[in-house]
Amino acid sequence: MVAMTTSNDARLRLDSLAVHAGRDELRSLGVHAAPIDLSSTNPLAGVDSGGDAYERLATGGDVGDGSAVYQRLWNPTVARFEQALAALEGAEAAVAFASGMATTTAVLTAARQRRGAHVVALRPLYGGTDHLLATGLLGTETTFVDSVEAVERAVRPDTGLVIAETPANPTLELVDLDALVAAAGEAPVLVDNTFATPVLQRPLDHGAALSMHSATKYIGGHGDVLGGVVACDEAWARALRPVRAITGAIAHPLSAYLMHRGLQTLPLRVRAQQAGAVRVAEALLDLPGVRAVRFPGLDGCDPRGLVGPGRQMAGPGSMLAIDVGSFAAAAAVAEGVRLFTHAVSLGSVDSLIQHPASLTHRPVAPEAKPDAGVLRLSIGLEHPDDLIADLAQALEATAVTARTAAAAMR
Ligand SMILES: Cc1ncc(COP(=O)(O)O)c(C=O)c1O
Repeated sequence: MVAMTTSNDARLRLDSLAVHAGRDELRSLGVHAAPIDLSSTNPLAGVDSGGDAYERLATGGDVGDGSAVYQRLWNPTVARFEQALAALEGAEAAVAFASGMATTTAVLTAARQRRGAHVVALRPLYGGTDHLLATGLLGTETTFVDSVEAVERAVRPDTGLVIAETPANPTLELVDLDALVAAAGEAPVLVDNTFATPVLQRPLDHGAALSMHSATKYIGGHGDVLGGVVACDEAWARALRPVRAITGAIAHPLSAYLMHRGLQTLPLRVRAQQAGAVRVAEALLDLPGVRAVRFPGLDGCDPRGLVGPGRQMAGPGSMLAIDVGSFAAAAAVAEGVRLFTHAVSLGSVDSLIQHPASLTHRPVAPEAKPDAGVLRLSIGLEHPDDLIADLAQALEATAVTARTAAAAMR
C-alpha cells in the first residue's frame, strides 16, 4: 500500500499541494528548504548492490533504498520536483528534463519504441516542436493536421503519438481535449500544457496520456531557468527514464530546485497574471492600430465554451496575440515598447513581447507560419494600467511614423 503523504493526498486543494508537494521528507531530514544535491556520482555499498542499483535505474525503475549511482540516472532534487509536478497534474509520475525540447524529444523516442514511428500533429504548435517533427530528425514520420476531425482520419495502426497544444502557440486557439482523445482512439495523446499550467488545465483528467511543459516558462516563472517536465502514468515514466539516461537529458539539480520552488507560487502568479491579461486584452480592443486581439477570455475566441470555472480550462491564462496589420507595424511596436521586454519566451513575472514569424516560428513551413502582423504578448505581474500605457505609446508612435512615411510618398 502507498503511504499517504502530502504529495498524494487527494483531499488537498491545488494551492496547498503547490506549496507542500515533493517536500514530505524534509522534516525527517531536519531542514525547511529542499536541499540541492549536486553529486555527479554516488558511493556504492558493494559491487553487487551497486550493479543492481544501476540495472534498476537504467531500466526506468525508482531508486528505492539503493544508491542513486550517477546523476544522469537519478537525483533526489530532481525527483522531489517530479513528485510535486505529478501531484499538481493528477498524475502517477513525472519525468524532468533539461529543457522543454529535451522532453518532447524523449517522448517522441519512447513513443516510437512503444508503438510506432508515425506521429499525428495538430497545428499550430510551438515552432521548435513543429520543426523537430517536420525534419524527421528523430526518425518519426509526421502527418500534420489542422482540426480534431482530421486527427481521426490521420491516425494509423503505427501511430505512436498524437501531439497537440492548447492554448496553441502563438494563435491562442483552443483544442477540445475530450474530442481530441476520442479522435485519437488507441493512440496516446501528448498535450503541451505550457501555456495553461496545471493551475488552469489538467490534460490527464481528459484522457491524455501525457502532459508536458516547457518549465522554462510559468513553472520557473522568473526567466532564470531552462527545463522541461512531462506528467504521465508509471508505465510511460518507465519508458522515458531510460531514454533520458541514455541521451543525458536529465534536468540539472539547480534547475530542478528552481522549478520546484516555482511551483509554490504558481497558482498565485497564474491567477494574478491572468487578471492583468484580461484588463490588457480588453484595452487592446480599443487601441488604434490593433486589428485583432486573440485571447481565450474574449468573445469569439472560445467558440466551444472550453474556458470557465469547472470547464476544460479554469481561466483564459495570460498569453495573448495581436495583429497590427503588417511586418513594419509589428516591428515598430516590438521595438517601441519600454516596460515590456522585446524577447522570446513567456510566463515570467515580467511582460514580454515578440514577433513569432521572425523568432519562435521562424523554422515553420510557410503554410503554418503566423501572419507577419502578429505579435505575441506574455503578461507579467506589472500593473495592467502601466502595461496598457506602454502598448498605447508604442502603437501611437508606430501610427505617427506610418503617417509621416505615407505623407513623404505623396
Ligand atoms: C509551448 C512551448 N512548448 C515547448 C517549448 C520548448 O521549451 P524549451 O525552450 O524549454 O526547450 C516552448 C519554448 O518556447 C514553448 O513555448
